Amino acid sequence: MIRLTIPSIEEDDLQAVRETVASGYLVQGSRVAAFERTVALYVGTKHAVAVSNCTAALHLALLALDVQPGDLVVVTAYSWVATANVIELCGAQPVFVDIRPDTFNLDPDRLDETMARLMAVPDTARRVKAILPVHTFGQLADMPAILKIAGRHGVPVIEDAACALGATLDRVQQPGFWPGARPAGAWGALGCFSFHPRKALTTGEGGIVTTDDDALARRVRALRNHGLDPDAPAADFIMPGFNYRLTEFQAALGSTQMTKLDRIIAARRRLAARYDELLQGTPMQPPAVASGSAPVYQSYVILLPENAAAVRAELIARLRAEGIETTIGTWHIPRTTYFRTRYGYRLGDFPVADQVFARSLTLPLHEKLSETEQEEVVARLSQALGSLPSGS
Ligand SMILES: Cc1ncc(COP(=O)(O)O)c(C=O)c1O
Repeated sequence: MIRLTIPSIEEDDLQAVRETVASGYLVQGSRVAAFERTVALYVGTKHAVAVSNCTAALHLALLALDVQPGDLVVVTAYSWVATANVIELCGAQPVFVDIRPDTFNLDPDRLDETMARLMAVPDTARRVKAILPVHTFGQLADMPAILKIAGRHGVPVIEDAACALGATLDRVQQPGFWPGARPAGAWGALGCFSFHPRKALTTGEGGIVTTDDDALARRVRALRNHGLDPDAPAADFIMPGFNYRLTEFQAALGSTQMTKLDRIIAARRRLAARYDELLQGTPMQPPAVASGSAPVYQSYVILLPENAAAVRAELIARLRAEGIETTIGTWHIPRTTYFRTRYGYRLGDFPVADQVFARSLTLPLHEKLSETEQEEVVARLSQALGSLPSGS
Protein backbone atom coordinates (compact mmCIF):
# COMPACT_ATOMS: atom_id res chain seq x y z
CA MET A 1 0.00 0.00 0.00
CA ILE A 2 1.29 3.48 -0.85
CA ARG A 3 0.32 5.13 2.41
CA LEU A 4 -1.09 8.64 2.72
CA THR A 5 1.34 9.38 5.51
CA ILE A 6 4.00 7.69 7.61
CA PRO A 7 5.56 9.55 10.56
CA SER A 8 9.36 9.89 10.47
CA ILE A 9 10.13 8.00 13.71
CA GLU A 10 13.71 6.79 14.08
CA GLU A 11 15.95 5.14 16.65
CA ASP A 12 16.83 8.39 18.46
CA ASP A 13 13.10 9.12 18.89
CA LEU A 14 12.50 5.67 20.37
CA GLN A 15 15.52 6.00 22.62
CA ALA A 16 14.33 9.38 23.97
CA VAL A 17 10.87 7.99 24.75
CA ARG A 18 12.31 4.83 26.33
CA GLU A 19 14.67 6.81 28.56
CA THR A 20 11.93 9.18 29.65
CA VAL A 21 9.45 6.45 30.49
CA ALA A 22 12.18 4.56 32.37
CA SER A 23 13.05 7.70 34.37
CA GLY A 24 9.65 7.61 36.10
CA TYR A 25 9.14 11.35 35.53
CA LEU A 26 6.16 11.23 33.19
CA VAL A 27 4.48 14.64 33.53
CA GLN A 28 5.28 18.28 34.24
CA GLY A 29 9.05 18.03 34.20
CA SER A 30 12.09 19.36 32.44
CA ARG A 31 11.41 17.71 29.07
CA VAL A 32 8.20 19.64 28.48
CA ALA A 33 10.00 22.87 29.37
CA ALA A 34 12.92 22.02 27.04
CA PHE A 35 10.56 21.20 24.16
CA GLU A 36 8.73 24.50 24.73
CA ARG A 37 12.00 26.45 24.57
CA THR A 38 13.01 24.72 21.32
CA VAL A 39 9.68 25.45 19.64
CA ALA A 40 9.61 29.07 20.84
CA LEU A 41 13.09 29.59 19.40
CA TYR A 42 12.13 27.95 16.11
CA VAL A 43 8.92 29.96 15.69
CA GLY A 44 10.53 33.12 17.01
CA THR A 45 8.06 33.88 19.79
CA LYS A 46 8.79 34.71 23.41
CA HIS A 47 6.61 31.89 24.72
CA ALA A 48 5.50 28.40 23.69
CA VAL A 49 3.13 26.49 25.98
CA ALA A 50 2.81 22.76 25.29
CA VAL A 51 -0.64 21.20 25.54
CA SER A 52 -2.30 17.85 24.87
CA ASN A 53 -3.33 18.59 21.26
CA CYS A 54 -4.14 21.50 18.96
CA THR A 55 -7.83 21.40 19.81
CA ALA A 56 -6.83 22.16 23.40
CA ALA A 57 -4.42 24.83 22.12
CA LEU A 58 -7.22 26.57 20.18
CA HIS A 59 -9.64 26.25 23.10
CA LEU A 60 -7.15 27.84 25.48
CA ALA A 61 -6.23 30.57 22.98
CA LEU A 62 -9.90 31.60 22.79
CA LEU A 63 -10.31 31.48 26.57
CA ALA A 64 -7.08 33.45 27.05
CA LEU A 65 -8.65 36.18 24.91
CA ASP A 66 -11.71 35.97 27.17
CA VAL A 67 -14.10 34.66 24.50
CA GLN A 68 -17.40 34.30 26.35
CA PRO A 69 -20.86 32.88 25.66
CA GLY A 70 -22.62 35.06 23.08
CA ASP A 71 -19.38 36.33 21.51
CA LEU A 72 -18.54 36.02 17.81
CA VAL A 73 -15.35 34.59 16.29
CA VAL A 74 -14.72 35.09 12.59
CA VAL A 75 -13.28 31.90 11.09
CA THR A 76 -12.52 30.18 7.80
CA ALA A 77 -15.25 27.92 6.40
CA TYR A 78 -12.84 25.23 5.17
CA SER A 79 -10.91 23.43 7.92
CA TRP A 80 -10.89 20.50 10.29
CA VAL A 81 -13.99 20.78 12.49
CA ALA A 82 -11.91 21.42 15.63
CA THR A 83 -11.29 24.99 14.40
CA ALA A 84 -14.99 25.82 14.77
CA ASN A 85 -15.89 23.32 17.51
CA VAL A 86 -13.74 25.16 20.04
CA ILE A 87 -15.68 28.38 19.37
CA GLU A 88 -18.95 26.56 20.10
CA LEU A 89 -17.42 24.99 23.20
CA CYS A 90 -16.73 28.50 24.56
CA GLY A 91 -20.46 29.21 24.05
CA ALA A 92 -19.55 31.64 21.27
CA GLN A 93 -20.68 31.60 17.65
CA PRO A 94 -18.49 31.12 14.58
CA VAL A 95 -19.00 33.56 11.73
CA PHE A 96 -17.70 31.68 8.70
CA VAL A 97 -15.82 33.31 5.83
CA ASP A 98 -15.24 31.77 2.40
CA ILE A 99 -11.80 30.79 1.09
CA ARG A 100 -9.62 31.58 -1.91
CA PRO A 101 -9.90 29.10 -4.80
CA ASP A 102 -6.11 28.87 -5.31
CA THR A 103 -4.62 28.48 -1.81
CA PHE A 104 -7.80 27.29 -0.03
CA ASN A 105 -7.00 29.87 2.66
CA LEU A 106 -9.32 32.49 4.17
CA ASP A 107 -10.13 35.11 1.51
CA PRO A 108 -9.14 38.57 2.85
CA ASP A 109 -11.72 40.28 0.59
CA ARG A 110 -14.53 38.20 2.07
CA LEU A 111 -13.09 38.81 5.55
CA ASP A 112 -13.11 42.55 4.90
CA GLU A 113 -16.79 42.41 3.90
CA THR A 114 -17.72 40.27 6.90
CA MET A 115 -15.89 42.52 9.36
CA ALA A 116 -17.43 45.66 7.84
CA ARG A 117 -20.90 44.10 8.19
CA LEU A 118 -20.37 42.98 11.79
CA MET A 119 -18.69 46.20 12.93
CA ALA A 120 -21.40 48.42 11.41
CA VAL A 121 -23.94 47.20 13.98
CA PRO A 122 -23.14 48.02 17.65
CA ASP A 123 -24.65 44.76 18.96
CA THR A 124 -22.44 42.55 16.78
CA ALA A 125 -19.43 44.89 16.87
CA ARG A 126 -19.08 44.54 20.66
CA ARG A 127 -19.31 40.74 20.42
CA VAL A 128 -16.55 40.13 17.83
CA LYS A 129 -13.67 38.82 19.95
CA ALA A 130 -11.23 37.21 17.51
CA ILE A 131 -10.40 36.35 13.92
CA LEU A 132 -9.26 32.76 13.41
CA PRO A 133 -7.56 32.06 10.07
CA VAL A 134 -6.14 28.62 9.31
CA HIS A 135 -2.85 27.93 7.52
CA THR A 136 -4.55 25.36 5.36
CA PHE A 137 -2.53 22.20 4.60
CA GLY A 138 0.62 23.95 5.83
CA GLN A 139 0.56 27.14 3.78
CA LEU A 140 0.20 30.46 5.58
CA ALA A 141 -2.98 32.42 5.08
CA ASP A 142 -2.51 35.97 3.75
CA MET A 143 -1.46 37.25 7.18
CA PRO A 144 -0.43 40.79 6.13
CA ALA A 145 -3.91 41.40 4.67
CA ILE A 146 -5.68 39.68 7.58
CA LEU A 147 -3.71 41.60 10.23
CA LYS A 148 -4.41 44.86 8.44
CA ILE A 149 -8.17 44.23 8.53
CA ALA A 150 -8.03 42.98 12.12
CA GLY A 151 -5.93 45.97 13.18
CA ARG A 152 -8.38 48.40 11.62
CA HIS A 153 -11.13 46.97 13.84
CA GLY A 154 -8.96 46.33 16.91
CA VAL A 155 -9.70 42.58 16.92
CA PRO A 156 -6.96 40.05 17.85
CA VAL A 157 -5.98 37.23 15.50
CA ILE A 158 -5.39 33.60 16.51
CA GLU A 159 -3.50 31.53 13.95
CA ASP A 160 -4.69 27.95 13.53
CA ALA A 161 -1.23 26.77 12.51
CA ALA A 162 -2.05 23.11 13.25
CA CYS A 163 -0.45 21.96 9.98
CA ALA A 164 2.14 24.68 9.53
CA LEU A 165 5.16 24.32 11.84
CA GLY A 166 8.09 25.55 9.73
CA ALA A 167 6.00 27.29 7.06
CA THR A 168 6.88 30.93 6.41
CA LEU A 169 5.59 33.94 4.54
CA ASP A 170 7.61 36.98 3.50
CA ARG A 171 6.67 40.08 5.42
CA VAL A 172 5.61 42.81 3.06
CA GLN A 173 7.44 46.10 3.20
CA GLN A 174 4.84 48.41 4.63
CA PRO A 175 4.49 50.23 7.92
CA GLY A 176 4.00 47.72 10.70
CA PHE A 177 5.77 44.90 8.84
CA TRP A 178 9.42 44.27 8.18
CA PRO A 179 11.07 42.33 5.36
CA GLY A 180 12.05 38.68 5.59
CA ALA A 181 10.33 35.35 6.03
CA ARG A 182 8.17 35.15 9.13
CA PRO A 183 7.13 31.74 10.47
CA ALA A 184 3.61 30.48 11.11
CA GLY A 185 2.65 31.09 14.73
CA ALA A 186 4.55 34.39 14.96
CA TRP A 187 1.98 36.65 13.27
CA GLY A 188 -1.12 36.69 15.44
CA ALA A 189 -1.70 37.30 19.15
CA LEU A 190 -1.47 33.52 19.55
CA GLY A 191 -0.52 30.59 17.30
CA CYS A 192 -1.74 27.02 17.75
CA PHE A 193 0.09 23.94 16.43
CA SER A 194 -0.71 20.22 16.25
CA PHE A 195 1.67 17.29 16.61
CA HIS A 196 -0.83 14.66 15.42
CA PRO A 197 0.83 11.89 13.35
CA ARG A 198 -0.29 13.43 10.06
CA LYS A 199 1.86 16.49 10.78
CA ALA A 200 5.56 16.78 9.80
CA LEU A 201 6.53 16.66 13.49
CA THR A 202 4.61 14.31 15.73
CA THR A 203 4.34 13.52 19.43
CA GLY A 204 1.43 11.09 18.87
CA GLU A 205 -1.11 13.57 20.16
CA GLY A 206 0.18 16.99 21.12
CA GLY A 207 -0.01 20.71 20.56
CA ILE A 208 1.53 24.02 21.50
CA VAL A 209 0.47 27.65 21.84
CA THR A 210 2.94 30.35 20.78
CA THR A 211 2.72 33.99 21.79
CA ASP A 212 4.86 37.06 22.48
CA ASP A 213 2.41 38.31 25.09
CA ASP A 214 3.39 37.58 28.72
CA ALA A 215 -0.16 37.90 30.07
CA LEU A 216 -1.66 35.60 27.42
CA ALA A 217 1.10 33.02 28.00
CA ARG A 218 0.42 33.13 31.73
CA ARG A 219 -3.32 32.56 31.19
CA VAL A 220 -2.69 29.64 28.82
CA ARG A 221 -0.25 28.08 31.32
CA ALA A 222 -2.77 28.36 34.13
CA LEU A 223 -5.70 27.12 32.03
CA ARG A 224 -3.83 24.01 30.82
CA ASN A 225 -3.03 22.96 34.39
CA HIS A 226 -6.18 23.18 36.56
CA GLY A 227 -5.82 26.95 37.01
CA LEU A 228 -2.54 26.63 38.94
CA ASP A 229 -0.67 29.92 39.16
CA PRO A 230 2.37 29.27 36.93
CA ASP A 231 4.49 31.93 38.69
CA ALA A 232 3.63 31.70 42.40
CA PRO A 233 6.29 30.01 44.56
CA ALA A 234 3.61 28.20 46.58
CA ALA A 235 0.78 26.36 44.81
CA ASP A 236 -2.33 28.45 44.34
CA PHE A 237 -5.23 28.32 41.92
CA ILE A 238 -6.24 31.52 40.17
CA MET A 239 -8.95 30.33 37.77
CA PRO A 240 -10.85 27.16 36.89
CA GLY A 241 -8.63 25.26 34.45
CA PHE A 242 -8.35 22.01 32.52
CA ASN A 243 -5.86 19.20 32.44
CA TYR A 244 -4.58 19.84 28.90
CA ARG A 245 -0.97 18.89 29.65
CA LEU A 246 1.54 17.22 27.36
CA THR A 247 3.42 14.27 28.92
CA GLU A 248 7.18 14.15 29.42
CA PHE A 249 7.61 11.25 26.98
CA GLN A 250 5.64 13.11 24.30
CA ALA A 251 7.87 16.15 24.86
CA ALA A 252 11.01 13.99 24.66
CA LEU A 253 9.75 12.69 21.31
CA GLY A 254 8.97 16.26 20.24
CA SER A 255 12.52 17.38 21.02
CA THR A 256 14.17 14.64 18.95
CA GLN A 257 11.65 15.28 16.18
CA MET A 258 12.62 18.98 16.20
CA THR A 259 16.21 18.04 15.32
CA LYS A 260 14.99 16.55 12.02
CA LEU A 261 12.12 18.91 11.21
CA ASP A 262 14.00 20.92 8.59
CA ARG A 263 15.09 17.72 6.86
CA ILE A 264 11.50 16.41 6.82
CA ILE A 265 10.17 19.70 5.47
CA ALA A 266 12.84 19.78 2.75
CA ALA A 267 11.81 16.27 1.67
CA ARG A 268 8.12 17.22 1.60
CA ARG A 269 8.89 20.28 -0.53
CA ARG A 270 10.96 18.21 -2.96
CA LEU A 271 8.19 15.61 -3.27
CA ALA A 272 5.56 18.32 -3.74
CA ALA A 273 7.62 19.87 -6.55
CA ARG A 274 7.81 16.44 -8.22
CA TYR A 275 4.02 15.99 -7.97
CA ASP A 276 3.63 19.48 -9.48
CA GLU A 277 5.68 18.33 -12.49
CA LEU A 278 3.87 15.01 -12.84
CA LEU A 279 0.46 16.71 -12.78
CA GLN A 280 1.32 19.10 -15.60
CA GLY A 281 -0.82 18.42 -18.64
CA THR A 282 -3.39 16.41 -16.64
CA PRO A 283 -6.89 17.71 -15.79
CA MET A 284 -5.86 17.81 -12.11
CA GLN A 285 -4.91 21.13 -10.53
CA PRO A 286 -1.86 21.09 -8.24
CA PRO A 287 -1.92 23.23 -5.09
CA ALA A 288 -1.05 26.90 -5.69
CA VAL A 289 1.68 28.62 -3.70
CA ALA A 290 1.16 32.32 -3.01
CA SER A 291 3.98 34.74 -3.75
CA GLY A 292 6.51 34.88 -0.89
CA SER A 293 5.03 31.78 0.72
CA ALA A 294 7.02 28.67 1.71
CA PRO A 295 4.52 25.95 2.65
CA VAL A 296 5.39 22.70 4.44
CA TYR A 297 2.83 20.56 2.59
CA GLN A 298 1.25 18.92 5.64
CA SER A 299 -1.03 17.57 2.91
CA TYR A 300 -0.58 17.72 -0.86
CA VAL A 301 -4.11 18.52 -1.98
CA ILE A 302 -5.13 18.71 -5.63
CA LEU A 303 -8.38 19.78 -7.26
CA LEU A 304 -10.00 17.12 -9.42
CA PRO A 305 -11.79 18.19 -12.59
CA GLU A 306 -15.43 19.19 -12.03
CA ASN A 307 -16.79 16.01 -13.61
CA ALA A 308 -14.96 13.92 -10.99
CA ALA A 309 -16.59 15.56 -7.95
CA ALA A 310 -19.67 13.33 -8.02
CA VAL A 311 -17.60 10.15 -8.18
CA ARG A 312 -14.78 11.13 -5.83
CA ALA A 313 -15.73 8.52 -3.20
CA GLU A 314 -15.60 5.78 -5.84
CA LEU A 315 -12.27 7.14 -7.07
CA ILE A 316 -10.81 6.98 -3.54
CA ALA A 317 -12.15 3.41 -3.14
CA ARG A 318 -10.76 2.33 -6.53
CA LEU A 319 -7.31 3.75 -5.74
CA ARG A 320 -7.35 2.01 -2.36
CA ALA A 321 -8.16 -1.28 -4.08
CA GLU A 322 -5.16 -0.63 -6.32
CA GLY A 323 -2.92 -0.05 -3.29
CA ILE A 324 -2.96 3.77 -3.09
CA GLU A 325 -4.29 5.58 -0.05
CA THR A 326 -5.89 8.97 -0.74
CA THR A 327 -8.53 11.01 1.04
CA ILE A 328 -10.58 14.19 0.71
CA GLY A 329 -8.95 17.57 1.51
CA THR A 330 -10.59 18.87 4.66
CA TRP A 331 -14.12 19.83 5.73
CA HIS A 332 -16.64 22.43 4.65
CA ILE A 333 -17.57 23.13 8.25
CA PRO A 334 -20.83 25.07 7.67
CA ARG A 335 -22.09 22.07 5.62
CA THR A 336 -21.52 19.50 8.38
CA THR A 337 -24.74 18.41 10.08
CA TYR A 338 -24.17 20.24 13.35
CA PHE A 339 -23.35 23.66 11.92
CA ARG A 340 -25.79 23.36 9.00
CA THR A 341 -28.74 22.58 11.24
CA ARG A 342 -27.78 25.01 14.00
CA TYR A 343 -27.27 28.03 11.73
CA GLY A 344 -29.23 27.03 8.59
CA TYR A 345 -26.35 27.24 6.10
CA ARG A 346 -27.14 26.28 2.53
CA LEU A 347 -25.17 25.25 -0.51
CA GLY A 348 -24.10 28.49 -2.21
CA ASP A 349 -23.47 30.44 1.02
CA PHE A 350 -19.73 29.70 0.61
CA PRO A 351 -19.38 29.06 -3.14
CA VAL A 352 -15.62 28.57 -3.20
CA ALA A 353 -15.63 26.19 -0.23
CA ASP A 354 -18.50 24.30 -1.93
CA GLN A 355 -16.29 23.67 -4.99
CA VAL A 356 -13.08 22.95 -3.13
CA PHE A 357 -14.80 20.60 -0.68
CA ALA A 358 -16.34 18.62 -3.54
CA ARG A 359 -13.24 18.40 -5.73
CA SER A 360 -10.23 18.17 -3.42
CA LEU A 361 -8.12 15.04 -3.09
CA THR A 362 -5.10 14.46 -0.83
CA LEU A 363 -2.27 12.42 -2.36
CA PRO A 364 0.23 10.31 -0.40
CA LEU A 365 3.11 12.38 0.96
CA HIS A 366 5.73 11.42 3.50
CA GLU A 367 9.49 11.53 3.76
CA LYS A 368 10.02 7.96 2.55
CA LEU A 369 7.77 8.21 -0.50
CA SER A 370 9.77 7.36 -3.64
CA GLU A 371 9.57 9.07 -7.02
CA THR A 372 8.46 5.75 -8.54
CA GLU A 373 5.57 5.64 -6.09
CA GLN A 374 4.67 9.23 -6.98
CA GLU A 375 4.65 8.31 -10.67
CA GLU A 376 2.40 5.36 -9.92
CA VAL A 377 -0.01 7.55 -7.91
CA VAL A 378 -0.38 10.05 -10.75
CA ALA A 379 -0.56 7.36 -13.47
CA ARG A 380 -3.29 5.39 -11.68
CA LEU A 381 -5.22 8.56 -10.88
CA SER A 382 -5.01 9.68 -14.51
CA GLN A 383 -6.20 6.25 -15.66
CA ALA A 384 -9.13 6.31 -13.26
CA LEU A 385 -10.10 9.84 -14.35
CA GLY A 386 -9.74 8.86 -18.01
CA SER A 387 -12.35 6.15 -17.54
CA LEU A 388 -14.97 8.59 -16.23
CA PRO A 389 -17.80 9.44 -18.58
CA SER A 390 -17.01 13.05 -19.65
CA GLY A 391 -20.47 14.33 -18.73
CA SER A 392 -20.65 12.68 -15.28
C1 LIG B 1 -6.53 23.00 10.84
C2 LIG B 1 -6.59 22.14 12.07
N1 LIG B 1 -6.93 22.69 13.24
C3 LIG B 1 -6.99 21.97 14.37
C4 LIG B 1 -6.70 20.64 14.37
C5 LIG B 1 -6.79 19.86 15.64
O1 LIG B 1 -5.56 19.31 15.99
P1 LIG B 1 -5.43 18.11 17.04
O2 LIG B 1 -5.79 16.85 16.31
O3 LIG B 1 -4.00 18.14 17.46
O4 LIG B 1 -6.36 18.40 18.16
C6 LIG B 1 -6.33 20.00 13.18
C7 LIG B 1 -6.01 18.58 13.17
O5 LIG B 1 -5.63 17.99 12.22
C8 LIG B 1 -6.27 20.78 11.99
O6 LIG B 1 -5.93 20.24 10.82
